[in-house]
Amino acid sequence: MKKRVVILISGRGSNMGALIEAAGDPACPFVIVGVISNKADAKGLAAASSLGLETKAITRDDYPSKTALDEALDAELTRMRADIVCLAGYMRLLTPALTQKWAGRIINIHPSLLPLFRGLDTHNKALEAGMRIHGCSVHFVTEGMDEGPIVAQAAVPVMPDDNADTLEARVLRAEHRLYPLAVTLVALGKARMEGSRVVLSGVGAEGVLLSPGAASDEVDIESLARMTP
Ligand code: GAR
Repeated sequence: MKKRVVILISGRGSNMGALIEAAGDPACPFVIVGVISNKADAKGLAAASSLGLETKAITRDDYPSKTALDEALDAELTRMRADIVCLAGYMRLLTPALTQKWAGRIINIHPSLLPLFRGLDTHNKALEAGMRIHGCSVHFVTEGMDEGPIVAQAAVPVMPDDNADTLEARVLRAEHRLYPLAVTLVALGKARMEGSRVVLSGVGAEGVLLSPGAASDEVDIESLARMTP
């Protein structure tokens, strides 16, 4: 039985698009059953709707408090019978009540090699720190911002002439490959949250780290693709 995935977005939704595309493969172990945004005018929401997906805006303006908003979100996730909730550029912090209720079933993608560079502006932060590699992480969501047990990471090189835009573009390409593969691991039960760690089963070390080729800005996903059944 395919796992039912609901995607939460706030903006353009390119990672959402990568998940939708992956779910189009008949062999994919998950199906996208809905997209929810906290911004009514999010470009990704219109895109998902035009693809025939069920969409819903649940915005702060409509609720008296963050708690009330998250109660509405919880009700919607329950109504959609979500097995897995994927944050894909969902730019607000969930309340502890929600993260605790959905613990082990909510994951997020963040554009840095966590625990480095939480929050915004990660590409400038990586450049300012003089990093030679940068990347993205998929992690289970806990109470804190951009923290929680890491499922999978992808690394990309930082080129000498990079600026934040060129680096962001390279990381985003890695995100689009990493997120579907990480959701696949979770959907298959191969990556599970246990306390503060992710327990992997049936996955080699190469399955959770996508590393750059020596002179390339592409990540090597072949090894990860091989471990799916
Ligand atoms: C992505 O880079 C994602 O990693 C980041 O927002 C962008 C959303 O782009 N998320 C965070 O920074 C979470 N802290 P998208 O809407 O095109 O997927």
